[in-house]
Amino acid sequence: MSNKTLRLVITTLLLVAVVAGLFGFTPAVHAQDKIKVGLSFSDFATERWKNEEVLMRGLLEGKGYEVLSAEANHDVKLQNDQIDTFVAQGAKAIIVVAEDGDAAVTAVDKAADAGVKVLAYDRLIKSSKIAAYLSFNNVEVGRQQSLGVLKALGFDGDKTGSWTKDNPVKLVKLGGSPTDNNAILFRQGQDEVLQPYVDSGVITVVADQWVENWDAANALKLMENILTAQNNKIDAVVASNDGTALGALQALKAQKLAGVVPISGQDATADGCNSIVKGELTVSILKDIRNLSPLAIDLVDKLLKGETVDGLKEYTMAELTNNKDAQGNVMAYFLPVVQVNKDNVYELVVKSGFQSYDDVYRDIPDADRPERPAEATPAM
Ligand code: BGC
Repeated sequence: MSNKTLRLVITTLLLVAVVAGLFGFTPAVHAQDKIKVGLSFSDFATERWKNEEVLMRGLLEGKGYEVLSAEANHDVKLQNDQIDTFVAQGAKAIIVVAEDGDAAVTAVDKAADAGVKVLAYDRLIKSSKIAAYLSFNNVEVGRQQSLGVLKALGFDGDKTGSWTKDNPVKLVKLGGSPTDNNAILFRQGQDEVLQPYVDSGVITVVADQWVENWDAANALKLMENILTAQNNKIDAVVASNDGTALGALQALKAQKLAGVVPISGQDATADGCNSIVKGELTVSILKDIRNLSPLAIDLVDKLLKGETVDGLKEYTMAELTNNKDAQGNVMAYFLPVVQVNKDNVYELVVKSGFQSYDDVYRDIPDADRPERPAEATPAM
């Protein structure tokens, strides 16, 4: 748009506003009349959460809601206080990414008792008072992480490549945050694939750790210690997301093992995909948040309007937590996930606009890049 046209548009808009004011036109809905919806995030350290905040805020505002938003910087108590505050401010629904699926129950139950619809977003909150739980197929995430790593080691169907009982894979497991129920589900899926080989002796698990707060710096430290203890003799790492995998990769890189030792991640982050094209991260998992966020907002909107919600299924808390003693049921829905590797990152991540071409191919010489997609949907 030229400067002249821009000036004309602005002048016209100002005139319309002045005339509307003179004739007493005011917007149909005053801010104080808007229904409030809270967005409560565990942290913004993992790339996806800020993106989802932006997505959900836009969708909610588009539907005429007022958005309250807070991020708890991994502080369980702070997150509960923030949820309490939303209730005090009159929120009618709250979407929660829980730092701790047990601890959040205190605030969430209070909110639900006050009539607020609470949606557990991506991570389970262990209360049957939540209105619903929306997530991805988290067990499948874990399966695909292990499968991606095994493929890179030369496993193929029943064949185990050069690995035998006498020459087993020395494998490191790096789980996510122990307070995140998803970390348990990822581990369940990872083990489903790995366990038969562990039982037959073709894989030896040399270290098995959980990464507090999903923090990359913690993963780096853990990996350094593991490498020291194992004299650098490790063959594979099943890490549970891109952030922690990239932390572990820094430790591997210092020992010249990046790109040599296969390692998994999750989220298809910009940095993760860049590492994939550089041949360091072996596999990530694409969970298309562009589908999850709209689903959550549609659900909240329907719940608040008292409309029927289709597609949810009832699950027992026991099956969702892998804990037979867990009580109660919740209504839930899970979206599919897909493995991302060197061969499909361009199609799945770049061409679909999930990440930008420039982020994914950062530092890659022009001659080694694929063609820039003609009509790449703008990245999030
Ligand atoms: C999410 C992952 C994310 C991790 C760390 C998990 O609950 O499912 O996508 O990488 O938390 O934030």
